[in-house]
Amino acid sequence: MKELKITPIKEGTVIDHITAGNAVKVLHILKIPETTTSVVSVVINVASRIGKKDIVKIENRELDPKELNKIALIAPKATINIIRDFEVVKKSKVQLPREVFGILKCPNPTCISNAREPIESRFYVISDDPPRIRCYYCEREPEDVVDRII
Ligand SMILES: Nc1ncnc2c1ncn2[C@@H]1O[C@H](COP(=O)(O)OP(=O)(O)OP(=O)(O)O)[C@@H](O)[C@H]1O
Ligand SMILES: [Mg+2]
Ligand SMILES: [Zn+2]
Repeated sequence: MKELKITPIKEGTVIDHITAGNAVKVLHILKIPETTTSVVSVVINVASRIGKKDIVKIENRELDPKELNKIALIAPKATINIIRDFEVVKKSKVQLPREVFGILKCPNPTCISNAREPIESRFYVISDDPPRIRCYYCEREPEDVVDRII
Protein backbone atom coordinates (compact mmCIF):
# COMPACT_ATOMS: atom_id res chain seq x y z
CA MET A 1 0.00 0.00 0.00
CA LYS A 2 2.97 2.31 -0.56
CA GLU A 3 0.92 4.16 -3.17
CA LEU A 4 -1.89 5.07 -0.73
CA LYS A 5 -0.60 8.44 0.42
CA ILE A 6 -4.00 9.87 1.28
CA THR A 7 -6.88 8.97 3.56
CA PRO A 8 -8.85 5.91 2.40
CA ILE A 9 -12.44 6.48 1.35
CA LYS A 10 -15.36 4.37 2.52
CA GLU A 11 -17.62 4.72 -0.52
CA GLY A 12 -16.95 6.35 -3.85
CA THR A 13 -14.75 6.28 -6.94
CA VAL A 14 -11.00 6.22 -7.49
CA ILE A 15 -9.87 7.33 -10.94
CA ASP A 16 -6.37 5.88 -11.23
CA HIS A 17 -3.71 5.91 -13.96
CA ILE A 18 -4.70 9.37 -15.18
CA THR A 19 -2.19 10.82 -17.67
CA ALA A 20 0.28 12.77 -15.50
CA GLY A 21 -0.77 16.40 -15.16
CA ASN A 22 -4.38 15.87 -16.29
CA ALA A 23 -6.07 15.49 -12.88
CA VAL A 24 -7.26 19.09 -12.87
CA LYS A 25 -8.94 18.61 -16.26
CA VAL A 26 -10.70 15.55 -14.84
CA LEU A 27 -11.93 17.63 -11.87
CA HIS A 28 -13.11 20.32 -14.28
CA ILE A 29 -15.23 17.97 -16.38
CA LEU A 30 -16.72 16.43 -13.21
CA LYS A 31 -17.60 19.97 -12.05
CA ILE A 32 -15.63 19.56 -8.83
CA PRO A 33 -15.83 21.24 -6.39
CA GLU A 34 -19.11 22.88 -7.49
CA THR A 35 -21.19 19.67 -7.44
CA THR A 36 -19.93 17.96 -4.31
CA THR A 37 -19.50 18.61 -0.62
CA SER A 38 -17.73 15.28 -0.01
CA VAL A 39 -13.97 14.81 0.28
CA VAL A 40 -12.02 14.75 -2.98
CA SER A 41 -8.30 13.87 -2.92
CA VAL A 42 -5.95 14.53 -5.81
CA VAL A 43 -2.43 13.22 -6.36
CA ILE A 44 -0.42 14.72 -9.19
CA ASN A 45 2.77 13.24 -10.65
CA VAL A 46 3.01 10.19 -8.40
CA ALA A 47 5.49 7.53 -9.52
CA SER A 48 3.95 4.36 -10.98
CA ARG A 49 5.26 1.27 -12.75
CA ILE A 50 5.20 3.07 -16.08
CA GLY A 51 6.33 6.63 -15.34
CA LYS A 52 4.19 9.23 -13.61
CA LYS A 53 0.44 9.41 -13.21
CA ASP A 54 -2.30 11.34 -11.43
CA ILE A 55 -5.05 9.92 -9.19
CA VAL A 56 -8.44 11.41 -8.20
CA LYS A 57 -10.42 9.95 -5.29
CA ILE A 58 -14.01 11.10 -4.85
CA GLU A 59 -16.16 10.15 -1.90
CA ASN A 60 -19.84 9.32 -2.36
CA ARG A 61 -19.91 9.65 -6.12
CA GLU A 62 -20.22 7.33 -9.12
CA LEU A 63 -19.71 8.55 -12.66
CA ASP A 64 -22.22 8.51 -15.51
CA PRO A 65 -21.44 7.28 -19.05
CA LYS A 66 -20.92 10.78 -20.50
CA GLU A 67 -18.48 11.63 -17.72
CA LEU A 68 -16.63 8.36 -18.33
CA ASN A 69 -16.35 9.10 -22.06
CA LYS A 70 -14.95 12.56 -21.34
CA ILE A 71 -12.40 11.04 -18.96
CA ALA A 72 -11.41 8.54 -21.68
CA LEU A 73 -10.61 11.51 -23.95
CA ILE A 74 -8.50 13.22 -21.26
CA ALA A 75 -6.88 10.11 -19.79
CA PRO A 76 -7.09 7.11 -22.14
CA LYS A 77 -5.31 4.80 -19.69
CA ALA A 78 -7.47 5.66 -16.67
CA THR A 79 -8.97 2.94 -14.51
CA ILE A 80 -12.22 3.45 -12.63
CA ASN A 81 -12.33 1.75 -9.23
CA ILE A 82 -15.63 1.61 -7.36
CA ILE A 83 -15.04 1.61 -3.59
CA ARG A 84 -17.55 0.10 -1.16
CA ASP A 85 -16.78 -0.27 2.53
CA PHE A 86 -13.13 0.68 1.86
CA GLU A 87 -12.61 -2.10 -0.73
CA VAL A 88 -12.32 -2.00 -4.51
CA VAL A 89 -15.45 -3.88 -5.59
CA LYS A 90 -15.25 -3.09 -9.31
CA LYS A 91 -12.40 -2.04 -11.58
CA SER A 92 -12.71 -1.11 -15.23
CA LYS A 93 -10.63 0.66 -17.83
CA VAL A 94 -12.19 3.63 -19.57
CA GLN A 95 -13.20 2.65 -23.09
CA LEU A 96 -14.47 5.01 -25.75
CA PRO A 97 -17.46 3.78 -27.76
CA ARG A 98 -17.25 3.90 -31.59
CA GLU A 99 -19.23 7.16 -31.58
CA VAL A 100 -19.66 9.84 -28.95
CA PHE A 101 -22.73 12.08 -28.69
CA GLY A 102 -23.04 15.48 -27.06
CA ILE A 103 -19.70 15.60 -25.25
CA LEU A 104 -17.63 17.61 -27.75
CA LYS A 105 -18.17 20.76 -29.77
CA CYS A 106 -17.29 20.69 -33.48
CA PRO A 107 -14.68 23.37 -34.36
CA ASN A 108 -16.37 24.08 -37.71
CA PRO A 109 -18.62 27.17 -37.25
CA THR A 110 -20.76 26.18 -40.24
CA CYS A 111 -21.27 22.60 -39.03
CA ILE A 112 -24.94 21.69 -38.63
CA SER A 113 -24.16 20.74 -35.02
CA ASN A 114 -23.37 24.43 -34.40
CA ALA A 115 -26.46 25.86 -36.12
CA ARG A 116 -28.65 28.46 -34.43
CA GLU A 117 -30.87 25.62 -33.28
CA PRO A 118 -28.07 23.17 -32.74
CA ILE A 119 -28.45 19.43 -32.90
CA GLU A 120 -26.40 17.26 -30.58
CA SER A 121 -22.80 16.85 -31.73
CA ARG A 122 -21.79 13.42 -33.00
CA PHE A 123 -18.23 12.21 -33.61
CA TYR A 124 -16.70 8.95 -34.80
CA VAL A 125 -13.87 7.75 -32.59
CA ILE A 126 -11.00 6.90 -34.93
CA SER A 127 -8.32 6.32 -32.31
CA ASP A 128 -8.42 5.89 -28.52
CA ASP A 129 -4.87 6.72 -27.44
CA PRO A 130 -4.12 9.38 -28.38
CA PRO A 131 -7.79 10.20 -28.90
CA ARG A 132 -8.72 11.18 -32.46
CA ILE A 133 -12.27 11.92 -33.59
CA ARG A 134 -14.11 12.91 -36.78
CA CYS A 135 -17.35 14.87 -36.95
CA TYR A 136 -20.20 12.72 -38.26
CA TYR A 137 -21.74 15.76 -39.98
CA CYS A 138 -18.85 17.72 -41.51
CA GLU A 139 -15.92 15.27 -41.25
CA ARG A 140 -13.73 17.81 -39.47
CA GLU A 141 -11.00 16.12 -37.38
CA PRO A 142 -10.05 18.50 -34.56
CA GLU A 143 -6.43 18.31 -33.37
CA ASP A 144 -7.18 19.81 -29.96
CA VAL A 145 -9.60 17.09 -28.87
CA VAL A 146 -9.35 17.83 -25.14
CA ASP A 147 -10.13 21.52 -25.68
CA ARG A 148 -13.31 20.62 -27.62
CA ILE A 149 -14.89 18.81 -24.63
CA ILE A 150 -18.12 20.49 -23.53
N1 LIG B 1 -10.52 2.60 0.32
C1 LIG B 1 -9.77 3.26 -0.56
N2 LIG B 1 -9.71 4.61 -0.49
C2 LIG B 1 -8.99 5.31 -1.36
N3 LIG B 1 -8.31 4.77 -2.38
C3 LIG B 1 -8.32 3.43 -2.51
C4 LIG B 1 -9.05 2.61 -1.62
N4 LIG B 1 -8.88 1.32 -2.00
C5 LIG B 1 -8.08 1.34 -3.10
N5 LIG B 1 -7.75 2.61 -3.41
C6 LIG B 1 -6.95 3.05 -4.55
O1 LIG B 1 -7.59 2.58 -5.72
C7 LIG B 1 -6.64 2.21 -6.69
C8 LIG B 1 -6.84 0.78 -7.10
O2 LIG B 1 -6.64 -0.04 -5.97
P1 LIG B 1 -6.08 -1.53 -6.12
O3 LIG B 1 -5.97 -2.10 -4.74
O4 LIG B 1 -6.88 -2.25 -7.13
O5 LIG B 1 -4.61 -1.20 -6.61
P2 LIG B 1 -3.73 -1.91 -7.74
O6 LIG B 1 -3.69 -3.38 -7.48
O7 LIG B 1 -2.45 -1.15 -7.77
O8 LIG B 1 -4.58 -1.64 -9.05
P3 LIG B 1 -4.06 -1.39 -10.54
O9 LIG B 1 -3.57 -2.69 -11.04
O10 LIG B 1 -5.32 -0.93 -11.24
O11 LIG B 1 -3.00 -0.31 -10.48
C9 LIG B 1 -5.27 2.51 -6.08
O12 LIG B 1 -4.88 3.82 -6.50
C10 LIG B 1 -5.54 2.50 -4.59
O13 LIG B 1 -4.66 3.34 -3.88
MG1 LIG C 1 -1.57 0.21 -8.98
ZN1 LIG D 1 -18.86 19.21 -37.60
